[in-house]
Amino acid sequence: MCGIVGYLGKNNAFPYLIDGLRHLEYRGYDSAGVTVVAKRSLCSRKTVGKVEVLAEAAEDLRDCGTVGIAHTRWATHGEPSVPNAHPHFDCTESIAVVHNGIIENYSQLKKRLADKHRFLSETDTEVIAHLVEEYLIADGSLESAVQQALADLQGTYALAVIFAYEPETIIAARQGSPLVIGIGEEEYFVASDVAAFLKHTHNVLHLSDGEICVLTPDGARVTDFDNRPVLRDIMPLAIEQEELGKNGFPHFMLKEIFEQPKTIEKALCERLDEGEGTASFSALHDLFPRILESRRITIVACGTSWHAGLVGEYMLEQYAHIPVDVEYASEFRYRDPLLGPGDVVIGISQSGETADTLAAIREARCKGAAVIGICNVPGSSMAQACDATLAMNAGPEIGVASTKAYIAQLVVLLLLALALARKRTMNREEGQWLIRELSLLPGKVEHILADDAAVLKIAEEFHASQHFLYLGRGFNFPNALEGALKLKEISYIHAEGYPAAEMKHGPIALIDANMPVVFLAPRDHTYEKILSNIQEVKARKGKIITVTDEGNHGVDELSDHVIRIPQTIEPLTPLLTIIPLQLLAYHIALLRGCNVDQPRNLAKSVTVE
Ligand code: AGP
Repeated sequence: MCGIVGYLGKNNAFPYLIDGLRHLEYRGYDSAGVTVVAKRSLCSRKTVGKVEVLAEAAEDLRDCGTVGIAHTRWATHGEPSVPNAHPHFDCTESIAVVHNGIIENYSQLKKRLADKHRFLSETDTEVIAHLVEEYLIADGSLESAVQQALADLQGTYALAVIFAYEPETIIAARQGSPLVIGIGEEEYFVASDVAAFLKHTHNVLHLSDGEICVLTPDGARVTDFDNRPVLRDIMPLAIEQEELGKNGFPHFMLKEIFEQPKTIEKALCERLDEGEGTASFSALHDLFPRILESRRITIVACGTSWHAGLVGEYMLEQYAHIPVDVEYASEFRYRDPLLGPGDVVIGISQSGETADTLAAIREARCKGAAVIGICNVPGSSMAQACDATLAMNAGPEIGVASTKAYIAQLVVLLLLALALARKRTMNREEGQWLIRELSLLPGKVEHILADDAAVLKIAEEFHASQHFLYLGRGFNFPNALEGALKLKEISYIHAEGYPAAEMKHGPIALIDANMPVVFLAPRDHTYEKILSNIQEVKARKGKIITVTDEGNHGVDELSDHVIRIPQTIEPLTPLLTIIPLQLLAYHIALLRGCNVDQPRNLAKSVTVE
């Protein structure tokens, strides 16, 4: 959601800025803009639509100067339009600002400034440029003017500011939205995400909330908002450039689906103790006793990560015998949850930047709960906001529809359940058995992926459907929700997921000969029950697609299509049944001509409420 790039160095800034924006496209946006400092004036272009449109329209800025900022905007305040696109300017057009986040008190600030300043957009961001102008007139230094302006702002922001009369400076600040600094050879970058500059440097300085970074040819200097120096180490990044490419796949989503056998291995790596039949997380060392003794675990997350939390609930309760609640982060944060030092809260987020999840874990921490994050992006806000963070190790996930991160989340939750269970209820042999089954999963996922053509055939038959229903029970109920979410977000087909037994309490009214119903029916302890649910759909002429285990032919006569997955133990079935659902959504979306990697209206990380 919104992407910021800034460049200061020895080369022309424009190519770096446009290329950086291209690498941030996956975050989701609807307009873009760029400003370069040229001989004590600012040269800018803004366009609606794709970065390529901007690149063409702004080609004349190519040789303009060596310092600049650029932005992709995902509309919040004001429609996608050229005036609302960033950068935004002061009245003299000598100060330019790009911003990600929301300035909550912008209308009060706008009123305060309205007499003396001319506003050209409907955005909250524009007040920042005018505030800096106000303080710059009084003070004369950009750094001090930005600092004073920040003191007036309420809300969340990552921002970068340039000034025509300090042509060799970029000022960046972070409060609740992601921002990283890249340190190259005599060149510096500021960006929402390392993907924007990874081609040029692997050396990164992670800013924390409440910090400002002043970039000049002399280096990167970090202070807090009160101008106290902050010492930050430059960290080398472990991500390789190839991880950010499609590696021969037509789409990031498909690449990420096919990466999942590796994703499972990476999430397991160095966390298993086969001899003891247990798992451990070095990050949890100090907190583990507190989790073991906790009276309850609350999981907070959004979207796909919330679905992973639901599977985690089944895993943790079944294995570790600790009561678990799973909450939408957006609801949890506003209902004054009853939490205290005896509680553990687990926040799950691929990006580590989801505003609602961050707010929920901050709320939990304020109330004294121990807070653990399960997160995929090192150095993200979540990693900074939790008592301990368990890395998913899935590598960059670029497709907006989350796939491999979900699998990684399930593995991490399962390992946590195993580690806790071994200290509470599970003996060593049971632990060893679970680890053996876990280690077979990557091969089983490969096996499902090898039959992609069968899923494509089903997609060809149903891609024109207007509605889909997904039904599952027990460990596979959350996958019914996840399968439906995958389909609706990338194919724009209306899809609902339900616990299969709930169907007769309402959704069964939707069933007719035009309704495809996907059943998740591995032979687990609810299998006989779900067979009855399949019968109920069959009796109403619904089209039945059943996902079940190899060797089970009990559903063949009832189903229009059967997708078979290798057998595994019940708690691990969600890691297999989800694979054909991801493929089905992918193929249907493609057949409908949808933009699979960048679906309309969606952003990869939702950094606003
Ligand atoms: C997943 O396909 C979605 N795009 C979305 O629901 C996502 O899972 C949600 O926004 C949460 O993101 P996070 O894991 O980065 O917090």
